[in-house]
Amino acid sequence: MIYGAILAGGSGTRMHVSTLPKQFMALKDKPIIIHTLEKMLMCNRFDAVYLGIHPGWMSYMYDLLDKYNLDSERIKLAPGGENRNDTIFNVIEEIKKDFGQQDDDIIVTHDAVRPFVTLRIIEENIDAAITYGACDTVIPATDTIVISHDGVDISEIPNRQYMYQGQTPQSFNIKMLKDLYSKLKPSDKSILTDACKICVMENVPVKLITGEVLNMKITTVNDYEIAQVIAGGIAID
Ligand code: CTP
Repeated sequence: MIYGAILAGGSGTRMHVSTLPKQFMALKDKPIIIHTLEKMLMCNRFDAVYLGIHPGWMSYMYDLLDKYNLDSERIKLAPGGENRNDTIFNVIEEIKKDFGQQDDDIIVTHDAVRPFVTLRIIEENIDAAITYGACDTVIPATDTIVISHDGVDISEIPNRQYMYQGQTPQSFNIKMLKDLYSKLKPSDKSILTDACKICVMENVPVKLITGEVLNMKITTVNDYEIAQVIAGGIAID
């Protein structure tokens, strides 16, 4: 079975909008999360697409599904967790309750706040997760990456040729991901912000999938304004 998991358990603190987590803010004509869900549903290889929703916003999400006539049996809700990885594992728990668990099950995890993902990226994620067990969507870094350990002076300037920016989807064989996560110490689990790092820490290869510059993450007000321009098809001078 192949599952989509839209991660929407966050509060969007860097957006500084206290009334609404950013995934529910409007992008052109509908909420960001609805754009993202519609993109995922375009892929008919998904047996189900889960939405990992912040627990306080579950009924709000059900109302949105009604409002936008999204009553597909393929759409399921799961409670979001304390952090992003907890949301992924909550979705995996719900999958087990709803469908059981087979060794070759695949999960394609995607940020709710990346509404411009393409079908090509999703399909390539599914294929790579089936073949290799884990993959990450990235774009080559165009800016030079500068490392500073103290935020004052430069510690290191790595060779740009080896630098990429991580996006999502990140996709995994579910059994493999669970097994790897269970091996981590609680102290390691608490500092993991990226699901692919679960594999990297255990030296499991993660295949690179080429993303798109437009597959941006809406994090700040500035990103939100850029996303509105992209969604509206308005050219930037
Ligand atoms: N996310 C999640 N569960 C969490 C935290 C984050 O599913 N406990 C999701 C967010 O909803 C978002 C994605 O992970 O779609 C990317 O995370 P980020 O941009 O950091 O979102 P927030 O945590 O909401 O933002 P911030 O860090 O500004 O509070």
